[in-house]
Amino acid sequence: MTEHIKIAIDDGVLILSMNRPDKKNALSNDMYRRLAEAIEEAQSDPAIRCVLLQGEGGVFTAGNDLADFAAVSSGQAHGTRYGSVFIETIGRAEKPMVAAVTGLAVGVGVTMLLHCDLVYVADDAKLSTPFVNLGLVPEAASSLLLPARIGHARAFAMFALGEPVLGERAAEIGLANQALPAGEVQAAALAAAKAIAKRPLGSVMATKRLMRDTAAIKAMMDAEGEVFTQRLKTAEAAEAFAAFAERRAPDFTKVSG
Ligand code: COA
Repeated sequence: MTEHIKIAIDDGVLILSMNRPDKKNALSNDMYRRLAEAIEEAQSDPAIRCVLLQGEGGVFTAGNDLADFAAVSSGQAHGTRYGSVFIETIGRAEKPMVAAVTGLAVGVGVTMLLHCDLVYVADDAKLSTPFVNLGLVPEAASSLLLPARIGHARAFAMFALGEPVLGERAAEIGLANQALPAGEVQAAALAAAKAIAKRPLGSVMATKRLMRDTAAIKAMMDAEGEVFTQRLKTAEAAEAFAAFAERRAPDFTKVSG
C-alpha cells in the first residue's frame, strides 16, 4: 500500500510529506496518527533538531478528509480521532517546525501553519479556511492565532467567507515568511530547516517557548474542540458534506443550524 505519510531524515531535519495526491493529500485519521506520532517521537529524539512539513504532488493538503467528517457527523466513525491528537501535538511541540506549502492548503492545511515557526509558500498557492462554508468553526487554536497574526478583519474574512488567499499575499500579511516560485519552495524550506538544525537547539527551543503561550493555545483548542464536535453533528454540516460528495453546491436555506 502507498505510504500516505512519507518520513525521511536529512541533516537533523525530520521531513514529513503528505502523500495522497489522488485526494489532494486530504488527511485521513490514519495520516493524522502517523504525523502526530512522528512529531511526538521527534521531541525526544536527539537526532532530530527540526521538523519540516510538506506535500507531494504539488499540493500541501486539501485539509481534513471530508468523507471522514461525514462519518463522524452521521455517527459512523469509531475509535480515537487522531485529528485532535495531531493538533494537540503540534500545539505543544517544542522543537522548531517549518512548512513548505505548494498548490493548495485548506482548513487544517492552513491552521497547522500557525504552529510552524517558518513558512514558505508558492506565490500561486491558494490558502483557505472554509470552516463556515462547511457548517463548522475554526480549529487548532486558529481563532486565537490567525487574528493575532493577520488581524481580526482578515482572519474573519478567511474563516467566514472561505475565500483563498494567494501565497504572495500570505507573505505580505505575515501568514508566511516568503513566497517563491512553486518549484523552489521545498528546497528553500529544507535549506531553512537545515540552517535551524545547526543552531543551538536549547536556545532555539527556549526562544520558541517564550514566543508561544501554550496554555492559552491549549485552552482555545479545548474550547474550539467542544463547539467543533457539536457542529459536526448539525444538519448544516451534514448538508455541506453531502454537497461535496455529490459535487453540488450546498443549500443551507432548508436546514437549521
Ligand atoms: N476530503 C476528501 N476528499 C477530497 C478532499 C477532502 N478534503 N479534497 C479533495 N478531495 C478529493 C476529491 O473528492 C476528488 O476525489 P475523486 O477524484 O475520487 O472524486 C479528488 O480529491 C480531487 O479533488 P477535486 O475536487 O476534483 O480537485 P479540484 O482541484 O477541482 O479542487 C479542492 C480541489 C481542494 C478545491 C476541492 O477538492 C475541495 O474544495 N475540497 C474540499 C476542501 C475542504 O473543504 N477541506 C476541509 C476543510 S476543513
